[in-house]
Order: sequence, then structure tokens, then C-alpha cells
Amino acid sequence: MGANPTNAAPPHPIFTDRYRDGLEKRDWLKNIFDDTAQDYDRVESWLALGSGRWYRREALKRSGLSSGMAVADVACGTGLVAREAVRILGGTGRVVGIDPSAGMLKFASDRIKIDARVGTAESIPDSDGAFDFVSMGYALRHVEDLVIAFREFHRVLKPGGRVCILEITAPESRIGRTLLGAYMRTIAGIFCRVGCRSKRTSELWRYYWDTIDQCVRPEAVTQALTAAGFKDVRRHVPLGVFSEYTGTK
Ligand SMILES: C[S@@+](CC[C@H](N)C(=O)[O-])C[C@H]1O[C@@H](n2cnc3c(N)ncnc32)[C@H](O)[C@@H]1O
Repeated sequence: MGANPTNAAPPHPIFTDRYRDGLEKRDWLKNIFDDTAQDYDRVESWLALGSGRWYRREALKRSGLSSGMAVADVACGTGLVAREAVRILGGTGRVVGIDPSAGMLKFASDRIKIDARVGTAESIPDSDGAFDFVSMGYALRHVEDLVIAFREFHRVLKPGGRVCILEITAPESRIGRTLLGAYMRTIAGIFCRVGCRSKRTSELWRYYWDTIDQCVRPEAVTQALTAAGFKDVRRHVPLGVFSEYTGTK
């Protein structure tokens, strides 16, 4: 790995064994998520560490999502966060799912009633002030620059709108970090070899852990939210590894 000289607030260093810079990272991610979309939900449910449906739904509610809201679910993927948002809205409001991987989005739009759009956290295909709530689940590590992405979230929110970012954070303690790393690399590797269709799924989950391990610490995320213009920025940490970052426009 080497430092990334171009971005002000990258979530982790560039992994030069996979891509050379932010542009290549974007293509590499799009390809691997397209290639492995069919396996995502299965591996996620095996390894979720409790971050399944119930947890996503409760985190959204805790962060202020309520009926009638217009929601942008950034990094929608196969729709695991968007599905819970739809459930909370209960037929009111609307959910737009945004993701650069058309392969992932297809699974979302096939099974939930959302407006699925190809886009990125850095470039959301909607107008200023279009949403009451922006969510992003487990993709903070995939953006090129935290402040640029969070400014875009701020742009598309109405005044008073809320942001909710869910992420797994490596434990501070050496032992906790080693155990979580072993779990995610070894157990995921075994699951992927026996139960997945795409050969690239085990590669994705190895990458998943490497980015968690090398991710900037939570203070850098809250600072980036503040730098992007959010007020009342907070981090709630259930079970020591789940980070729920929230803020208000
Ligand atoms: C681990 S999946 C998370 C899916 C879902 N939010 C969940 O809770 O399970 C990460 C998603 O982030 C998407 N992604 C990658 N780079 C992105 C970017 N720059 N902006 C938005 N989404 C991105 C990927 O295509 C992938 O679908």
C-alpha cells in the first residue's frame, strides 16, 4: 500500500496491489460488485455479526427516519438498507436507491419498490434539497474522499434533513482487531469457497476486512461530516464495532 497524494480525506490508503489510484479504485469496485452481486446477500447474512434486517431497521429509526420522508439510500447495493427504509415508511414517502454497480442495483429493484439509479456518493443524480434523509450502509470505505461525499449528501438534503451512515469499525484493542480480522478473512473465505457462485466473492470479503482494518478512525469521519457542513454530528456504537454516524443539515 502507498499514500494517496490527491485526496484530502480518503477513507483508507490506496491498496496498490489492487488499483493504482482513486479512478482505478472506482472501476475495480464497480467490477467486483457487479461480479459478486448474486452472492452478496448470502454472505452478508452468514457474516453479518448481527447487522442484518433488524439492526438496519433500528439504526434507521434511531437516526430519525419516519413516515412520509423522501430518502436517498446511497450505496444501496442489493437493497438491504433500502428495504428497511421502505418498511419504516409503510407506503408513505419515497426511497431512491443509488449505487455505481448496476449488477447490485438489479437485485434491489427486482424485489423492493424503490427508484433505483446508477450514481455514486460523490455524484448523486438528484437536485439540491430533494431529500429529508440520506442513508449509506457499509460503503464509507468505498468512497474516494469523505468530505466530497458528505458535501454531496449535504447538498441533496433539505434544511433540517438527517444523514445516517452505518459502518463496521475495527476494535481499538489488538486482540479484538485480530479476532475480527480472523473471523472475516478465515470464516468468510470458507463460506465463500463452499457456498458462493462467483470466484471473486472470497476476494471481495478479503478486501472488505483490509479496508476495515486500514480505515481512518471514527474521529476522522465525524470531522469530515462537520467539515461538510453537518451540525450535531454524533457517533453511536452498539456492540463496540458498529458505528452509526448521524448529523443534521
Ligand atoms: C457492502 S455493499 C453495501 C450494500 C448495502 N448498503 C448494505 O447495507 O448491505 C457496498 C456498496 O457500495 C457501492 N459503492 C462502491 N463505491 C461507491 C461509491 N463511490 N458511491 C456509492 N456507492 C458505492 C458498491 O457498488 C456496493 O453495492
